[in-house]
Amino acid sequence: MTPRWTATGLSQDLPKGVVMAGHWQGHDLAVWRSATGRLQAWNDRCPHRGMRLSHGFVRGETLACIYHGWVYGAEGGCKHIPAHPALTPPATITVTAFACVEQDGVIWVAPADMAGSPPAVSGVQPLRSVSLTCDLAAVLAVEPALLGQDILRGTVQIDGQGHDVCLLVQNNPAGLTLHALCGVRANKVAASHWVENLRRRAEMKVAA
Ligand code: FES
Repeated sequence: MTPRWTATGLSQDLPKGVVMAGHWQGHDLAVWRSATGRLQAWNDRCPHRGMRLSHGFVRGETLACIYHGWVYGAEGGCKHIPAHPALTPPATITVTAFACVEQDGVIWVAPADMAGSPPAVSGVQPLRSVSLTCDLAAVLAVEPALLGQDILRGTVQIDGQGHDVCLLVQNNPAGLTLHALCGVRANKVAASHWVENLRRRAEMKVAA
């Protein structure tokens, strides 16, 4: 699979001091924002015993594992081991970090050495993310106005009017997550209902 920038969330859903789970091309991620707003995306596995770091806690500019409390700093290096407070952790204890960029209100992730910038999604505003248990083919089958593969875009009917919609596709082991953006003139409540209805219709098509 060719590495590419993948949308893993919307900026509005990750305030300062919060960690959330994400996914990038087969890798589970811990995506977190420090107290000062610095954004990071790491492999979701503590180097100690493998606990998910997305279950951990943001402490200032660090992320602490929920299991034994090992603390990791900005570049993924272990900074503190509570059971050995006098020890300076070896530099080899490091979490794999990904490139993580915010653009157009979207959190994009790619390998650390990825060149270039994420694709631009102009003319739309962030709306919501929704997880589906079906595949992309089901989504395209129930809403043929949407065109694309990793970025679905088209004009759909919301509240009886045509509005531009952009859905950023994140594939997950259990299906996919769509990060939705809508035209700036669309009513966001109505657009959110349209997204939920799309999820329901696509999942029902698979079940039928
Ligand atoms: S598993 Fe993370 S500190 Fe032990």
